[in-house]
Amino acid sequence: MIREYVRVWRARGWMKKNMPFLISWHAYVGYELDLFKSFEKPASIEEVAAARELEYDLLKQWVEVGIILKHFKRLSGEKVRTMKKWKLPKSKSNRFSSGIILKEMMELHIPSLLAYPELLRNQTKQHFDSSVHGPTVAKTSTLLEQLAYPKVEKVMKKYNVDSVLDVGCGEAGYLRKLAKKFPHKKMVGVEVNEEVANSARKIVEEHGNIEILNKDINEYQPEDRFKLVMANNLLHYIEPDERAGFFQNAAQWIKKNGALSIITPIQKPKHGKEFSSAFNSFFMTFDNLYPVPTERDLQGFAEKSGLKMMSLDPIIKEGGWYIAVFKK
Ligand SMILES: C[S@@+](CC[C@H](N)C(=O)[O-])C[C@H]1O[C@@H](n2cnc3c(N)ncnc32)[C@H](O)[C@@H]1O
Repeated sequence: MIREYVRVWRARGWMKKNMPFLISWHAYVGYELDLFKSFEKPASIEEVAAARELEYDLLKQWVEVGIILKHFKRLSGEKVRTMKKWKLPKSKSNRFSSGIILKEMMELHIPSLLAYPELLRNQTKQHFDSSVHGPTVAKTSTLLEQLAYPKVEKVMKKYNVDSVLDVGCGEAGYLRKLAKKFPHKKMVGVEVNEEVANSARKIVEEHGNIEILNKDINEYQPEDRFKLVMANNLLHYIEPDERAGFFQNAAQWIKKNGALSIITPIQKPKHGKEFSSAFNSFFMTFDNLYPVPTERDLQGFAEKSGLKMMSLDPIIKEGGWYIAVFKK
């Protein structure tokens, strides 16, 4: 009898722990189909289902959940309206929408974590298809950029930087921000994903001092050295055994007294252990993404390539995300 009671009590506990998922799921569906916008002005479910050609029952259910979560309000005459818009992700067409993180979590992180039993059983890993997920990942990186950029600007000033190389530049958000502040300094971004590189070119087209190269950094040899080399959120794309080699190459690309600046989650950090372990669990389901380094790894790579670690500062403490700066 007691055993039965404990079972139900525990099950209830798991269900309660999972409650916040409903909120994220609801916001994700709304973002993905731009549904919060569809109900910005009072509209009935029938009207939206017809106008957007959506399955009526599912839309109705999703709206019902939204009413319970207070994402929507039911009005008279079967109409519904979006509530607390400031709390919800902005439209997909808005480059600054927070919804992109929901998309990455729901389409990439959670399915990968759910694949664990199958991957474990089959003694296999999945493959990260950057042509599918590359654009989403590049966009979510711009969220971190917002917080990390001021630290990068500090490095520019401290090392009297005249030229910047950004390897794995994604949509070149850092270069774009730097170019606004330093319009006459030479900046080069290297990005392996063609779609992402093209979108980076578009984003920086007004800045004549930025050049974007669609290249693999393993096949890249710059003609000139740079005062600052950046590698932001790139290390988990590089096999742990190849990271020392990457540091050695990067050290070659840097001018004397220049700097290497690396943004990455750290494994087993002082703060943010849960986030960092969740990221690692996700990365490790892929045969072409790798666990993030520890602080000691970074120290070791630097020493082997003649660089000195000058600082390791948290960007998001609870996320275990750091910026490490090395001097040549
Ligand atoms: C997570 S994104 C980070 C983008 C950007 N650095 C940022 O922090 O916002 C990593 C980027 O590195 C690119 N990348 C991965 N391996 C690369 C390689 N070998 N050469 C060049 N780019 C690479 C990926 O395509 C992706 O766009």
